[in-house]
Order: sequence, then structure tokens, then C-alpha cells
Amino acid sequence: MVQKFLFGVLLFLFIGGRMNAQEIHIETQGTSLVFCVSKNGKVLQSHFGNHLVSVTGIEKVQSYLNEAYPSFGNGSSDEVAIIATHADGSMATDLFYLAHEQKLSDGVQETVIHLKDKILPFYIDLHFRAYHEENIIEQWTTISHQEKGKVRLEQYASSAIGFKAESYYLTHFNGSWAREMHLSEEKLSNGIKSIETKRGVRTTEYENPSFVLSMNQKANDDNGEVVMGALAWMGNFKLSFQIDDQERCQFIGGINPYASDYSINANEKFETPRMVFTYSPFGKNQASINLHRWARKYNLQDGNVIRPIVLNSWEGAYFNFDANRLKGMMDGAAEMGVEIFVLDDGWFGNKYPRNSDKAGLGDWQVNKKKLPEGIDDLIVYTEEKGMKFGIWVEPEMVNPKSELAENHPEWIIQRKNDREPILARNQLLLDLSNPKVQDFVFGIVDDLLKEHPRIAYIKWDANRHIQNFGSTYLDDDRQSHLWIDYTHGLESVFKRLNKDYPDKIFQACSSGGGRVDFSSMKYTHEFWASDDTDPYERLFIQWGTNHIYPPIATAAHVTKSPNHQTGRETSLKFRFDVALGGRLGMELRPDDLEPEQVEFAKAAIKLYKEIRPVIQLGDLYRIQSPYDTDGFASINYVSPDKSEAILMVYSHEFHRRMERANVKMKGLHENALYRITELNKAGKKSHIGFDNQTISGSVLMHSGFSVNLKKPLESAIFKVAKVSE
Ligand code: GLA
Repeated sequence: MVQKFLFGVLLFLFIGGRMNAQEIHIETQGTSLVFCVSKNGKVLQSHFGNHLVSVTGIEKVQSYLNEAYPSFGNGSSDEVAIIATHADGSMATDLFYLAHEQKLSDGVQETVIHLKDKILPFYIDLHFRAYHEENIIEQWTTISHQEKGKVRLEQYASSAIGFKAESYYLTHFNGSWAREMHLSEEKLSNGIKSIETKRGVRTTEYENPSFVLSMNQKANDDNGEVVMGALAWMGNFKLSFQIDDQERCQFIGGINPYASDYSINANEKFETPRMVFTYSPFGKNQASINLHRWARKYNLQDGNVIRPIVLNSWEGAYFNFDANRLKGMMDGAAEMGVEIFVLDDGWFGNKYPRNSDKAGLGDWQVNKKKLPEGIDDLIVYTEEKGMKFGIWVEPEMVNPKSELAENHPEWIIQRKNDREPILARNQLLLDLSNPKVQDFVFGIVDDLLKEHPRIAYIKWDANRHIQNFGSTYLDDDRQSHLWIDYTHGLESVFKRLNKDYPDKIFQACSSGGGRVDFSSMKYTHEFWASDDTDPYERLFIQWGTNHIYPPIATAAHVTKSPNHQTGRETSLKFRFDVALGGRLGMELRPDDLEPEQVEFAKAAIKLYKEIRPVIQLGDLYRIQSPYDTDGFASINYVSPDKSEAILMVYSHEFHRRMERANVKMKGLHENALYRITELNKAGKKSHIGFDNQTISGSVLMHSGFSVNLKKPLESAIFKVAKVSE
């Protein structure tokens, strides 16, 4: 203990002002980000890429990429990180080095670079946290001043980083409801490309605040230099990439400043959200693994704890249930081996019962007609069946037809001057910039958990975005703070819940995948990746999602066929084989399954319990992309010690007679011998001719093998277990 303390003290280096401050080296085991202080005191960003053992002399050889935090009004006409109207009405900001500090403890290097305007008492602190082993660098900024009056911020990026290559390919993740996180890649050309949202809430449904930037070639899983980045923020974001006439690419990312001017008084601090970066010289798969490992360790609730299997009531019951029907579902769930039963929407509201999405949202009292014996009766029944109980809430929202809307119309986000409210899914948003509303929203979950302490799981939904922009709480001159104050209000509610209820599981849902980001993940255990549960669609959605976010947090449910969203018919096996790749769950009425399907589900759930340590805590390798035109997709997961792997192979198109999925596994030990066994085949013939045989890791990885899948929507999964070195 004492030793550890001394080690920490020794490594705590105050450099600013006392040592030569020419180079500031932010480093992980594989990455360096270097800043140089020029003779005239400007802080310039130099290198971002492969780790440099020494940075001596870098300022002599490198042409600088850009100012560490480019500002408006110092002569440059490029995009800037900060635009401020100072208290004296002037708009110029010119930032110079003041000092910097670095310390290292427990494998995390923290750096702060202090900057000040040349004339005014206006300060920027650039913060970096570098995770040595995981190769992750987080960057964020704090802004403060001691001017005589308010300073209005019009742009306030988290990060500005320059890259230098011959060409750049940008991959980003976009879509819509039931089609989230689809990959699109484009070559960047001169000009500015931005990925952004202006929705305030449900921000990630159309575009995710994350990207892959590949240098000199299209992004590839196995080779080439790539940078992956993601903004940890639940509100509006803007990530922009500008290619200039010298072929440099400047990234500027953070909160979207769209209609979001933000004023701060003297000595107040404005803190931006974290931008999370990882760099890989070995292609994007390694970058994804870096993000997953880091998220599990530092940025996900209980990130290294095995997740239970859920049966959620939504697609099986919708609003149509009573206690008997739910108990029937619980019977079936327990029989199949499910571990948590989650009661979705429709359980609340009395004056305005929540029997459809038209009424009741906001009135969080149990509906006495549907559930006369209350929630505890359901909890007791679930526990008797050996499962835990979870419940759905949508605390940020309100139906106009509710007691809440009648009692607190001032709590609703609204346009002033009696403009007609724009409804979406018949509902409106509560104004979380208002501390009273924050207390109310916290209180919804707090009351539920106090009254029913055995609730184990909360599904937190949010089914619309901000359109009626305006707050009755914020002063007239602070209306534009709403986007940011709403998000901070939400963060503070989540922080309180995490503090008071550390042992409850939280799921972030927002009309499916509308809240999939590293900020919500910090407060929750998992996210609902999409309302689209069709396994064919999920191949693409989960493929995109797991580029950035870890499989352990990706809720993937087996639902009924034909699928409720797409009408596509698929076998129960195919549905399971796709859902087994994330946090497995089910979302159907067990009574709708034929007896042999129940038997299949039982076996698949039993199997998941055996393999989930590898799926949830191992590394995910992408082998064949569903986006490639050959109609196959495959992935394998490998346990941290490489003793076990799970391989999943899918065919999603028809294949000619002799066409096979040719698979080369990844991430195994070259020298070890592995036994390959097909799983989940319900007594059918294996899809390989060497089932249960022992094969070397190097053969499985480099020689490869074919898997006999021909029909559309067929799949095979395998366990690959080490038998000896
Ligand atoms: C959203 C969610 C669904 C379900 C419904 C309930 O659409 O994404 O999973 O919870 O709301 O109304």
C-alpha cells in the first residue's frame, strides 16, 4: 500500500513552468499524441499515431498540424474549436501556453495543458487521459474566465486533432428507426464533412457520434492505420473533418453548437464532454477491441460482470396484458432458463390508463385494473420461478393526456406564445434543465425501487426528440442553454441513481438504438440496439454497433417469426444464432412456441450460459462482413487467455452448389491445438467435415476452412477449445 503510494507520488510530475516545456507527450503503450510549445508560446499539435519511444527533436522536423485549440479571431480562416464573445464585446481569442501538468497512476496518464488569451483573463484547459494498456486517449476541455461580465460561447469543441496522410476514408454509422448503425464509408475530399445531430434527445438513431478515419486506404479490419473516435455525450453532437489544401485533415468534435450559445459568468467553469480516441496501425479490428476492453474496464456499469438472460414482455404482450397473462409468460420464461423477466410499457396510469401510447405517460402508479394485486405480486411470482424482476419506465416524457400534464404544464418543454405543441408518438418531453423536474424524474425510479426493493432491472426508454424548443424555467437570455442543460440534467439524474442503486441493472433504450453512446453507457449496463429484431437486419445493425460498442452491452432478443417489423420468416435457430452474439434475451410470448421450439430454446439458453463468458468478456474478431457481396458473414470471439473461441458463421443469401463460406479464424494461439465442435445443431449433421477434430491454431487462422452453408438465413456456430500447446 505504502509502496503504491510512493510510486504514485514519484510519478506525479509537475512540469509546467519548471522544466523545459518544449514537448508534451501524451502516450499509451501503442500511441503517441505530441504537442510542442513554440518559441512565441503557441501550443501546436504535432504527431498523433504510432508510439514514439522518444520525442526529442520532433519540433525541428515536423510541420505542425494545427494549433492545439484553434480559436476565432487570431487570423486563421479555418474551422475553430472556440468562438467567444468576451465581456467587453470583442470576439477575438488568441491562446498561449501558461503551464501543463502530467501524472501517472494505475496505468492512466493524466495531462492538463493550461492556455490563456493573450490579453483577456480567459482560460482554456485541455485535458487528456491516456490509458496505457488499452491504447485509449480521452480528451475534453474546460473553459473559464475572470472578465467583468458574461462571456458568450458560440463554439466550444471537446477536441481538435490534425492528421496527415495522402488520403482519408471516413466510416460513420447511420440509419433510422429499426435500421440503426449501418456503415457507410466515403473518401474525404476538400471541404468539410460533418456528422451531427440536432435532436437533443434520441440522438443516435440517425447518426452515431462515432467514426473510423482510415489513412491512405479504405478501412480494413486487419491492416492499415486507423483512428476510431466517439463522443461521450447524450445530447447534440458535431464531428467535423476538414481537408485543407495541404492534404491535412483537421478533426474538430464536441457538442453541436447549433442554436446553443452558452454564457458563463466569471469563475464559472464550462466543461465539454469527453472525446474518446483509439489508434491502430493494424486495421480497425484492433481499434474496436481497444474500445471494447476500455469500455468494459472504465466506461460501462459493471463492465466485467456476466449479464443475465432477459425475457422482455413488449413484443409478446404489447399493452395487452393482465397479471395472469404475465404469469403465463413468466412460467414459459422460467422453463426455458431465462433469468430476468422484464415488464415493458403499459403497467401504469389510472385516471388515464396506459393502454396505448395515447395516454398515461407520466402517471407512474400501477394500473389497478390490469394489476389489482400490484407489482409485488408479480415480483413474488417471478422469484418463485427462480428469476428476477425488471420494469420499463420512460421518465423524461409525458402524454398531454395524463395527470402529470394537468398538474405541471410548466414542466413541459414548449415553444412560447402558445404555439401549438408538436406531438411525436402522442407525447412531449419534460424540461430537465429545471432542477425540480430532475428531482421528479429521479423520484420516479427512486420511489419504484424504494417501494419494491426487489426490482432488479430498469429499462429506461426515451421515445421522442426535442422539437418544441423552449423552457419556462430558463431565463429569456438563457433559452439557448436548453440543449446542454437538458443533457446535464439527465446526467445528474443518472449519477444519483448509480450512487443510490449500485446493484440494479439499467438498460438505455430510446425507440431502439437512439441512446447508444459512451456517456449513457457510463451510467448503464446495456443498451437496446434496435427495435428491429429480425435476425437478418440484426446482422448489419450488430456488425456496425460492435465496431465501437462492446457486445456485452448489446441487448439482442429472439422474437417471433414472421418478424413484427419486417415480416421476414426465419428459423428459431437462425434467430438464436444471431442473438447469441450479444447479451441474449427473448421478446415473445412463450406460449406461441411449439413444444419442439421450447426444447430448442431451452438448449440454446443453456448453451449461452456456457459460452457467455467468451461472448461477453472476450475479444470480438470480424471475419466476413455482411456488407461484402458474397452473402456470408462471420465473427469469432476469443477468451482473454485464448483458450476458447466461439465462431459464428451466417449465410444470408442463396449460394451456388459448390460455394462455401471460407473462414479464417482470428485471435487464436498459432502454436496451440484446438478442438472444433459445432454447437446448437439440434441433432442435425455438422456443417463441417471435421467436427470434433483437433486442428492447430495456425491452420484454423491461416489455412482456413469451408463451412457448408448454402441457403439464405442459415447459420452454424462452433466452439473452438484449446487442448494443448
Ligand atoms: C420503444 C422501445 C420498445 C418498447 C416500446 C414501449 O419503442 O424501443 O422496446 O419498450 O417503446 O412503448
